Formats: sequence, structure tokens, C-alpha cells
Amino acid sequence: MSKNILVSVAWPYASGSRHLGHIGGAYLPADIFARYHRLIGNNVLMVSGSDAHGTPITVRADEENVEPIDIVEKYHNEFLGYWDKLSISWDNYTTTMTDNHKEVVQDIFLKLLEKEYIYKEKTLQAYDSSEDRFLPDRYVEGTCPKCSYESARGDQCDSCSSTLDPEELINPKSKISGNKAEFKETEHFFLKLSALGKDLLPWLKTKEDWRPHVINWAQSFVEEGLQDRAITRDLDWGIDIPVDDLGEGKKIYVWFEAVIGYLSASIEWASKEEGRNWEDWWKNKDAESYYFIGKDNVPFHSVIWPAILLGYGDLNLPTNVPANQYILIKGEKASASRSVGKTLSEYLDEWEPDAIRYTLASVLPEQADSELSESEMVRRNNEELVATWGNLVQRVFKQIENNFDDISEASNELDTDSELLKAGEETFSTVGNYIEKIELKNALQEAMRYVSKVNIYLNETEPWKVINDDKKRASRILYTALSAIDICSNLLYPFMPSTSEKVSTAMEKDSHNKWAKNDIKIGTQVKPIGHLFKKFD
Ligand code: MF3
Ligand code: ZN
Repeated sequence: MSKNILVSVAWPYASGSRHLGHIGGAYLPADIFARYHRLIGNNVLMVSGSDAHGTPITVRADEENVEPIDIVEKYHNEFLGYWDKLSISWDNYTTTMTDNHKEVVQDIFLKLLEKEYIYKEKTLQAYDSSEDRFLPDRYVEGTCPKCSYESARGDQCDSCSSTLDPEELINPKSKISGNKAEFKETEHFFLKLSALGKDLLPWLKTKEDWRPHVINWAQSFVEEGLQDRAITRDLDWGIDIPVDDLGEGKKIYVWFEAVIGYLSASIEWASKEEGRNWEDWWKNKDAESYYFIGKDNVPFHSVIWPAILLGYGDLNLPTNVPANQYILIKGEKASASRSVGKTLSEYLDEWEPDAIRYTLASVLPEQADSELSESEMVRRNNEELVATWGNLVQRVFKQIENNFDDISEASNELDTDSELLKAGEETFSTVGNYIEKIELKNALQEAMRYVSKVNIYLNETEPWKVINDDKKRASRILYTALSAIDICSNLLYPFMPSTSEKVSTAMEKDSHNKWAKNDIKIGTQVKPIGHLFKKFD
């Protein structure tokens, strides 16, 4: 029975180039997970898009003296290039600027308003009197009331991940003028998290399989008592409030609408796909949904988005929110805004995309921050990828190309041969189980362990020597090795799709399983495939 699996991936702000840390943080793990589920026959819907609103975009536009739309278009296009090069297999990658998104957001807003989960109230909003303007959250900085970090932003503290409102900051300052931020009365819509929260806790209590850092954070956030939060802002870049009683110059807050993107992107996708219904992923009780995000997005995905969904009703809550911690490049969080490390485009110019995928997948920060230095990437590329997997393919293909017209004249299988292939068959369930539990680093390690096993088999059976006096036995060894290589390419496909595809299509087969052993055609030739990976000095 195939399952419907929604793979939701954090919407990157279209406000700056991405870095390796972003790729390892969300897009790559989501893609590995989605590819695996497609291989085993599940119906995957993988969605995201560029987050077009919010202060990261307007700050950037102000800095460059252009319009927000110019910034969004520039980076949205840049992102499309990354996905293409890195083979991130979206079913729909869109933006939050579409009419469809706006309609879905406004529909949810109105429904929540009707159910009285949204209400209007006068509030204080940060204001810069020297500039005569209201300050959106990220234009206000100050000391975090929870952890005393000094550069906390008005929406969130980067140090302890608490979601904040600007008036909670100690010594709030305007980022525009550097002056003390004042607070001026304004009217806004609020989301009644205080009421929605009571159903969240029992739901969160059922999530025993979530990553500890995610579930612990979410539960204590709810246990502390959720405060109602303003979901509109004094801004002119964003989605219009669908009721006009607040007057000009107010928009829906980016965090309220961006999370709705998962739903609107699914609806958009279904509208273009003949015979597809978005409700199969959102209303079917057996459908599963996974949200691949970085840890700074945990509050919005583990608590606030579920609260919106509960308030709206009839839509599935997240099955899991496998947030990653940070990838640290020489100890600092890889970040687009702070320019730590090389840009992704620079890596893409120098590295094979699959080698980038491999090195990132080996250090995924699933439970804790992980360090990645360029020298470590080079080491993993050279010692693990090139020396283990690339070299295995190379030596077996070479032997076959040089010494056989084909491998049809093989002698019978010995125990060493059948054991190797049996171990390969078993590895599918080991790796698959890890991927299903979203322990992708372990999954990759197990797959690579099998690759090493095949290398050991070759070292022990030495077909290059055997060939001198027993060509039929050498044939069998190479046939076995080729079958095992096909297994490896299937196991590695979710992690390195392009090179796996290359290997897997270089031989003829009698079966075409994607996540199981295949029967390699007796007498197959192998297509020369050259070097799979580049060795760095
Ligand atoms: N744009 C946000 C960020 O980069 C993430 C938004 S995820 C969404 O941190 F679901 F809210 F869209
Ligand atoms: Zn803090």
C-alpha cells in the first residue's frame, strides 16, 4: 500500500545567496527523504518556494536602493539555479507572491477571524521618530529578555531561538537610525494562541519519535503559556489584509503567511497536475507530512503553524518536524546575511554536485551543530567518495572492459559471492529504516559500509590475478561485483542521484528495481563512464 507523503521544506527568504549550511540544513535532507520515498513507491509531494516578504527582503532592497520585487526576482532565479545543479527534486517550487498564495492566506485569515481565533486590538509598535516610521520587527534590535543575548532581533533571538515581540527586548534600538526605539499605538490583528495552545500540548505529547531538541523546545514553549501574537504589521510590502478596517499601510505578517505556503504550494501543484488532488496530502488521515527546516524555524513549525491548522480545522498536523541544528563553518553558523564561508555558487563551480551532497550528508547536524571545514570536505571527498565508491566502480568497470567482451562465461556462484549479494539485499532494509526515521547520516554510513564490503570482497577474490588461470571464475567474481555495484548505486541514489543513475544505466539488467537487488544480464557489457568524482589536491 503506497502512502501519500508531503515533504515540506522551509521557504528561503529571497534576500541573499545561500550557503552550504542552508543546503545541509533543509534542502538536501528533504531531497534524500523524498527520493527514497518515491523509490519505494510512495506518492511524494515535495513543496517549497521563495519567501518574498518580510524584513530581510526590505532591508536588502533599502541597502541596494531598489524595490523589494527586484531583490526577490534576483534571488528567486539564483535559487532555481541551485536546485537544478544540486538535483533538488521539487514537485513544486514557487514563491509567496502568487495570486494563489494570496487567496489561500486570505481565506485562512478570514476563516480564523470568523471563528474568533483572530481579533483586532490596539497595541504598541516600535517606532523610529527620527525617521517618522514604524519599525518592522527585524528593524529593532536589543537584549534578549530570556537569555540576555545582546543582538536579539525584534522577532526572534538567534541565540536561544525564542520567538519575541519587539517590546519584549531590553534596550530596543532602531536598526535604521541607531536611536532608541519608541513604542507608538497602532491597531493590529492578533492570533489567539492562548486559546489554540490548549489542544497543542496533548498533540505534542504524542510525538515521542521527534528529535529531542525539537520536541523539548516545542513542549516547553507551549507549557510556558502561549501569548497571543500580532499577525499584521505596519508595512507596505506584504499580503493585504482581507478586511479593510485597519486602513492603509498594514499587511499580513510574513510569518503568518509564509507557513501557509506549504498548503498553497500544494494547491497550486494540484491545479496544474491532471487528476491530482491536494487534499490527498492534507486531509487524508493516512497521509504523512514532514517539515524539513533549520532550528531557528522550530517555533513556527512545531507550534504556530500547527496552531493555525488546528484553528482552521480539517487539515493534517505535521507528522514530524525533523529540524536540523546548524552546520558550522569553522565554528560559525553558515549564514547568508553574515557571509561566513564561501558562497554556494563558488562551491558549485568547483565541485561535483554529488560530491557536495555527499560531504554535506555525512555531517548533517541532525542532533547537534556540526563542524565543516573545507579541508574536511576535501578529505571526505578524496578518502571516502573517490577512494571507496568511485574507485570501486572504476576498478570493476576497467577489469570488465579490458579483459572481457562480456561476462557470460562465468562459473558457478561460491559462498563468498552469494554472501556479498545477500548482505547487499539486507542493507536495503537497514538503510531504508534509517531514512524513514530521518537518521540520514546513519543511513549514508550504512550504505557506505556496504560499498566498503564490496571493496573488501574484491581485494580478497583478486579477479585481476585469477583471470590468468581461471577466466570463468574471474568472470563470476566480476559479475558478482557488478551486481553489488548496482546495489550500491541503488542504495546511494537518494544521496547522490546523478552519479548513481550513471552507474546504474551503464549495464544491462533483466530487472529494474530501484530499491532492491537486480538481476544483471548475463553477458552484459559496461558503458565506459569515466571518473565519477574529482580528486582534490
Ligand atoms: N523564510 C524563513 C527563513 O528563511 C523560513 C520560512 S519557512 C516558512 O527563516 F514556512 F515559514 F515559510
Ligand atoms: Zn535569547
